[in-house]
Order: sequence, then structure tokens, then C-alpha cells
Amino acid sequence: MNCKVGFVLLAAMLCPSSWATLRAEAATDDARREVSLNGDWNFVIDQYDADRGIARGDRAWGKNDREEYSIDDAETLRVPGDWNSQREDLKYYEGTVWYGRHFDIKPEAGRRYLLCFGGVSYRAKVYVGGKEACTHEGSFTEFTTDITELLKDGDNFVAVRVNNRREVDAIPAMSFDWFNYGGITRDVTLRIVPQRYISDYFIQLDKHRSDLIHARINLSEAVAGQTVTLSIPELKKTIKMTTDDAGIASADIPVKKLTRWCPANPKLYKVELRTADDEVTDEIGFRNIEVQGTQVLLNGEPIFLKGISIHEEIPMQKRRACTEADADLLLNEAQALGVNVIRLAHYQQSRHMVRGAERRGIMIWQEIPVWQAIDFKNIKTLEKAQRMLSETIQRDKNRCADCFWGIANETRNTPERNKFLSSLLQTGKDIDTTRLFVAAFDLAYFDRKADKFLMNDDFYQNLDMVGINKYMGWYEGWPKAPKDIHWEVATDKPIFISEFGAEAKAGIRGQEDVAGSWSEDFQAKLYRMNLEMFQNIPNLAGISPWILFDFRSPTRLHQTFQEGFNRKGLVGDKGERKQAWYIIHDYYQKK
Ligand code: GCU
Repeated sequence: MNCKVGFVLLAAMLCPSSWATLRAEAATDDARREVSLNGDWNFVIDQYDADRGIARGDRAWGKNDREEYSIDDAETLRVPGDWNSQREDLKYYEGTVWYGRHFDIKPEAGRRYLLCFGGVSYRAKVYVGGKEACTHEGSFTEFTTDITELLKDGDNFVAVRVNNRREVDAIPAMSFDWFNYGGITRDVTLRIVPQRYISDYFIQLDKHRSDLIHARINLSEAVAGQTVTLSIPELKKTIKMTTDDAGIASADIPVKKLTRWCPANPKLYKVELRTADDEVTDEIGFRNIEVQGTQVLLNGEPIFLKGISIHEEIPMQKRRACTEADADLLLNEAQALGVNVIRLAHYQQSRHMVRGAERRGIMIWQEIPVWQAIDFKNIKTLEKAQRMLSETIQRDKNRCADCFWGIANETRNTPERNKFLSSLLQTGKDIDTTRLFVAAFDLAYFDRKADKFLMNDDFYQNLDMVGINKYMGWYEGWPKAPKDIHWEVATDKPIFISEFGAEAKAGIRGQEDVAGSWSEDFQAKLYRMNLEMFQNIPNLAGISPWILFDFRSPTRLHQTFQEGFNRKGLVGDKGERKQAWYIIHDYYQKK
């Protein structure tokens, strides 16, 4: 049943989920408005990818106009949210689900309507009024499509074909150590902007100086001679710029007495951008992040990175983390641990996580899911990785908490991989020269002849900081007492232990020397031994235990101890802090 505009109230009662009257806020002269399309969307499981023209609108037609079904009468899924945790019949589903909903809007002349998806796992095909608006691949990066020409007065229908099937040429590929959630797992927003609007901007402190801000503002149209005003009231700065033929205005802004963002004082400045038609306000932090020899410098001072790795998941409810409250839960636990950096593994996480970390003064290592066995020989896969890295950086380039862009995790030292990563690294550097580029390697090994840890890899030299994943005492036995183990790994670079740890089921105690005990005591002793070994790493810039919470993974099948969870969390899936949590907490306190 396709509710008509006149019966909005009735419709809201009869099909509460598929209607949202986009309350055009009071007709102010606000240059732009944002309307949320979060809520309950109708859905249809399309297991054979039959399509049946669901995208055309709220009915699907067979032969002779025999009505097949109407998505409007279908059940609903909550957006944002994965489908796996919302329904028993979708718990392990990998395939296509169609989402659809109506929204009521009156398009105004001289405005553009941008539909923005925070993240859709894994492939998305978006239709508005039955016409294709855009497609996107990649579960964890944001995408936006201009749907102005597809809108009509009153009732509009948006449909999204979502497919989360794993593929060899995908990123990540066929097997990875986290749960393959599907769905519209991040916020959906309709951005209403002027015909000519501020489409992009990059405003950051110079990489090496504390008294110079670089600003670049793009208009949506390549039109020259447009005035763009940038102001930072607290710095008493107002700069007028003029766009060039590409519609871009840029300026280098000298500043004095800038308070640079840092963990102890996560200072953000209100930044206002104005043109004749548009106006954007942001809160931006300014800081320097650099490498000097084997040290990482924040605002010119060496800093030891006290980290923790985090998956974007609420284990207590076995679901993707997707709201601001979810981000607060994860970030509050990280903050309680005493971190100054988080490794958002293994993919870009929501705006809520990034904003939340920024406000808490927590630096971020964000990465794209180039995880282990990727199709490095495939040029199409490289293009996907380049696009994902570009989307990752483009979304967060004004977020000062983002300090590290990670481009790979545990990849093999092959010519194809090195070629792939070199191109990927160049893509990143073409966009952002203000941050550090990193990757995590699992190639460090203990060489008995040399009697020390070594690493043979032909790519790491291109990076600013080298991540090392090493599970001593869990995947590998101790060759000798930890205090006697020496490292000679990437000695001309800062290294960051981007993963270490062991599994333990919260509540199991005793048998600290028995790996098979899955006890907290075993995990705790292993942590103490690793921390002891780390003291001998001359170029150690920081550590990031794997991982904050136990997390779901189809590769973790031990019926008694894992139950589908990877139990390396410092916190169990019911929120219980394990012994190892306190070891890291005390270690960070003393650092
Ligand atoms: C790897 C990998 C992680 C994985 C971890 C583990 O290092 O990067 O994604 O979860 O090991 O085995 O627990």
C-alpha cells in the first residue's frame, strides 16, 4: 500500500517505518540543512538476486502486471545497524538484502539534495524513484550522491540493494578475523545545500610549523572570482580568499599563540567558512605529528604511544557499533585504560568514533582493510584500495586526532604486494602530507643464529612508522627469557607493537603457565612477559595490545572457550575487565 501525502498521520500509524516527513525546519535563511534518514526501513531478502524491480518503487511486478509483492508491506530493519543482529533469519546471511523507505519532501529551486551513507556493508546500489543514483563498494567508507534531479514533489522512494558476499578481489577478501556483518551499518543523511555550495575543505596546521595554517576550500562549481571568507574567531583571524578557475580558494594563514591539540588539552577551534550562498562551521584542532629518527613527535615533543586496538562492535549485543552512544561506550573504556592512541582495526570507523576520540584527546591510527591475503596481482583490487584510502582520508582530513593512516595489515613480502602498496602509499601522500603513513607487519622473527629478532621486508622503509604484530607466548613460544630477548627490527624507524596478546575467557582463573587453560592468569602473565621484552626494543615508539573487547569471528570455533568469539580482549564480551586489563592500565599510568 503506497500511502499518499495527504494521509501522513494515517501512514505514520499504518506503516510507521516507511515514512518520514522530513521536517523542513523553520524556513530560516540557513544556507544548508541536514535531515536524518535513520530509522526503520522496509527490507526484502533477495537470496537469488532476482531484483524483480524492487528498486523501481514500492511494488514489484511480474508478468501481466501481476503484483509480486510490495516492499512497503515488508517488515523492517533498523538503520543504522547490521542485519545479522536484528533477525534470527539473517544471523549468518551473506547475500543481497533490499532496503527501501519513503520520505516526503518538497524540493526547492536553487538547492541541491545530497544523499550521504556513512557506511554500507559491503556493496551498495542506490535508487531514488526507481532510477539508479550510485553504486559503492567497501563496508567502511562514506559516500554521497546528488539526487536533486531524481526527486519529485511529495512522496519519494529510496531503495538500496545491499550485498555482503565475500569475493576474492574484494577488500577484505575471502577470510578475515572478524564477523562479516551486512547492512546499512552507519547513518544515512540528506544534506540540503545551496546550488553552489562549499563541497570540500582541508584546513590543517603545517606539518612542521606551529604558526602556519594551510587552508584549501573547494566550491561545487568550477567558477573563478568567488569570495570565500574563513574565520577563526578565537584567533581573531578573518581571511578573504578568491576562487580560481577550478573553484578552489586557498590561503596560508600565519597564526600566533595557537594552542595545539594534544591528549592533555584536546583544544578545538571554531572555524567558519562563508561564501555568497553557503556557510559551514566546523571545530578543528591544530597539531604537528612528525617522526624524528626513531621517535614520534607530537607538537615537537617525543611521545610514547600508549595504545589499544578496537573493532567497531558492541560484543555484549553481538552487533556493529553504529551510534554515538556505542562510540562512547568503546571510547570510555579505552580512556579508562589510560590510552593516548587507538588503533581502529581494521577499517575506517564511524564519524562518532573519530569525533569522540578527538574530543577526548586520543590520537587515532585508522586503516583500510587490506588484511592478509588480498588479490595483489589484480589492478581492479588496487583501484579499490586506492579509492578506499582516498575516501578514508577525504572524510577525516580535518580531524586532528587522526595521526596515522594505515595501508595494510600482515601482508607477505612479495613483489606484487610491494608494487601494490607503493601505489597505494602514493595515493595517500597525494592527498595528505600532514600525517604519518604506517602499516602492520607480522614478519618479525627470532633468529636463533643472530640471537635476536629480525625482519626481512622490502617495503617498510617507505613508511613513517612500522607496526609489528607479534604474539609471543601465544602463536609462538619463548626462545629465552623475555628480558634477554633483543630486537634489531627496522632500526632506523620508530616501531609500534600494533598487536600482541593472548586469548582468555573472562572468569577462568589459575594455571598461569598453561596456554590451554584459557585463563586470565595465563593471559596476564603473558602480558607481563611481553612488556618485559619490549623494554629491550631500542626504537620502540609505542604499543597497542590486541584488543580492547572480545570480538566475534567465524574463525574462532572452540565450543567451550570461544563460542564464536576471539577472546584476546582485555575486556570480555559481557564487559568484564580481565587481569591483563589492570596490567596495561598500571603500565600506562607509570609511562
Ligand atoms: C592478526 C590479525 C588480527 C587477528 C589477530 C588474532 O594479527 O591482524 O585481525 O584478530 O591476529 O589472531 O587474534
